[in-house]
Amino acid sequence: MRISVIGCGYVGLVTGACLAETGHEVVCTDVDAERISALRAGRVPIYEQHLDKLLESARGAGHISFTEDAGEAIRAGDAIFICVGTPPKESGEADLSAIDNVARQIAAEARSPKLVIEKSTVPARTGLELKRALGHYSRNGAATFRVASNPEFLREGTAIVDFFHPDRIVVGVEDEPAAEQLREIYRPILERRFHCPVHEPACPEGPHPPFLVTTINSAELIKHASNSFLALKISYANVIADLCEKLGGDVEEVTRAMGLDPRIGSQFLRAGLGFGGFCFPKDIQAFIHLADSVGVDFGLLKAAECVNKQRIDSFFEKIRKALWVLKSKRVAVLGLAFKAYTDDIRFSPALEVVKRLLEEGAEVRAFDPEAMARAEKALPKATYVRDAYQAAEDGDALLVCTEWPEFRQLDWEHMGELLARRLVIDGKNLLDPARMRALGFEYHCFGRAE
Ligand code: UGA
Repeated sequence: MRISVIGCGYVGLVTGACLAETGHEVVCTDVDAERISALRAGRVPIYEQHLDKLLESARGAGHISFTEDAGEAIRAGDAIFICVGTPPKESGEADLSAIDNVARQIAAEARSPKLVIEKSTVPARTGLELKRALGHYSRNGAATFRVASNPEFLREGTAIVDFFHPDRIVVGVEDEPAAEQLREIYRPILERRFHCPVHEPACPEGPHPPFLVTTINSAELIKHASNSFLALKISYANVIADLCEKLGGDVEEVTRAMGLDPRIGSQFLRAGLGFGGFCFPKDIQAFIHLADSVGVDFGLLKAAECVNKQRIDSFFEKIRKALWVLKSKRVAVLGLAFKAYTDDIRFSPALEVVKRLLEEGAEVRAFDPEAMARAEKALPKATYVRDAYQAAEDGDALLVCTEWPEFRQLDWEHMGELLARRLVIDGKNLLDPARMRALGFEYHCFGRAE
């Protein structure tokens, strides 16, 4: 099928690359002309495992192209995926102006029937507004529009594997032909007929993903409800960690045992600095705002957000307790990205830690395997070094702020020799407390007996 993708961020690029790999003809566009010329020249503007290879092979096979001319992209596709940003406004409400712009563009430029699919995360009822906007601005009699919502459940860092091996594909539609068109788009994935760049030579056996057809409103709600539930789970684990600290338990033992109950599940119970990134913090705010706007008080979610905001304060309490005065102290920071396997620093708890350290007059020496360039742009006052060992040199303390597994494999004996003081405060519960203490470190983390 001929498919247009509007917006070449994480979601748009992964969607475009994966659909091209499954044999569709994909045209991508973005308002950022520089981004488009980089992509045309084969440069991928974000770090996402396997994405570069996938784009290279799709470009080579002629299955994907990039244009800064939105009209050209819109006219090319029978189905148009909207993958533009929906950032938070000051109030927490989602800013839908990019969606509105795209709707007007599609209406003005389309010359034939189009299936317009929202992939961006949007509040419930956006699809209805989108349908209205397309109708109002349509100028060509041959252009008719169906609207659908097809939320993505991609995690940054594993987005390609998530796209090819989804837990579920959700399509919110207004009628059966729209559902059929989406089923056609996803058929190679539903039937597992594609070349998977992640699993060589073959993907592990597993059930085919369910294809769920819902109303548009339900699909939009499914996305917000899923992200919010996961955020709730994280905040719950973080409160349990606080209780463990007060009562003398070990949060790792507690959450491991909880997770073995299949009704609870073991994922997203990791305590630490809390959730960040461009999805959870903004989605939770937008969902609270949406609920408030229709008179439903989502106190549960407000509490989860509040717990999350306090994580950094509670980390600083630990830092201050151990280091006393921060001014003029040299602090090594390991990890800047909002989580491992990404270079994304948006709403990163790690970056917030660096920012506060700098504000308090500490000298920060930071390292992250992928996010250095972005962090340096955002916070140029910190010193960014080549590796974890350089970060540790003469440090009064070392903070772990992102759960990169490679930090576990460091030669911690040598790290201890490099540091001026063997003090580690682990914001991600990444390291083994017993081992660290055996190596002579003063070691603090979240929710584990000291
Ligand atoms: C999240 C969802 O997991 C995806 O399903 C969804 O599609 C995506 O948002 C989106 O809306 O686009 P992502 O933001 O990439 O994906 O990252 P997650 O892996 O969900 O992690 C979010 C944050 O929670 C990270 O800061 C992570 O460190 C933190 N986290 C995660 C914890 O603090 N504890 C945990 O147990 C798990």
